[in-house]
Amino acid sequence: MNHRVRLGVNIDHVATVRNARGGVHPDPLRAAREALAAGADGITAHLREDRRHITDPDIAALSLLCAEVGRPLNLEMAATDEMLAIALRHRPHAACIVPERREEVTTEGGLAVAGHEARIAPLAQALTGAGVRVSLFIEPSLDQIEAASAVGADIVELHTGRYCHLNGDERAIEFERLEQAAARAGELGLEVHAGHGLDYQTAAHMLAIAEVCELNIGHFLIGEAVFVGLASAIHRMRAAMDAVA
Ligand code: PXP
Repeated sequence: MNHRVRLGVNIDHVATVRNARGGVHPDPLRAAREALAAGADGITAHLREDRRHITDPDIAALSLLCAEVGRPLNLEMAATDEMLAIALRHRPHAACIVPERREEVTTEGGLAVAGHEARIAPLAQALTGAGVRVSLFIEPSLDQIEAASAVGADIVELHTGRYCHLNGDERAIEFERLEQAAARAGELGLEVHAGHGLDYQTAAHMLAIAEVCELNIGHFLIGEAVFVGLASAIHRMRAAMDAVA
């Protein structure tokens, strides 16, 4: 690996804690500011259809903050008309289209692009037309990579959740899938990101994949922040990533 892999910090769970009491503390905007000051390259936030953590005013405030400081906002969103309209209104640096089911605890599994090209392609086209980079959060499988390319995505974010949950040989096999998917994405000219479930150790593992140029990490960093503070958790993550370089 000879390039600096970017770190995007997902601040959804700051909003989860805030919403537990229905007030304004802790403020995701303050977390975003702190994350950027601590070395995050960008901010990621998922506006879920049920608004269980990030809310519409959060997205408005985060858009302004990121524009002000010249750092990218990566808006995670479901493939719906409502979310498309919101993305077109705020024009974040990138929109990452994710699957969403109301009953899930977090984003489980990648987006089914293969077989759903007719639904995803117009969405991707509308975002691209508005100057928003299109990222698709997918499983590391070759058919999803090919489909992502076919619908006009700029980026694929490979779902690392399975990798993070597996051990031993099963983990090694999943790593090969990630490597192969990333290589194919690179051949097709797609930018490759990775995320979900990453911690200091597994984030470092992802840097062994040459095509990966950005990691998006949330839950672990916000959890660590309880013990060491957000800035320190981000510094440690950056150090873990830089140690591989
Ligand atoms: N990338 C995407 C597309 C996601 O949906 C999520 C979870 O919201 C993440 C990255 C971050 O995952 P985690 O919170 O497990 O680090």
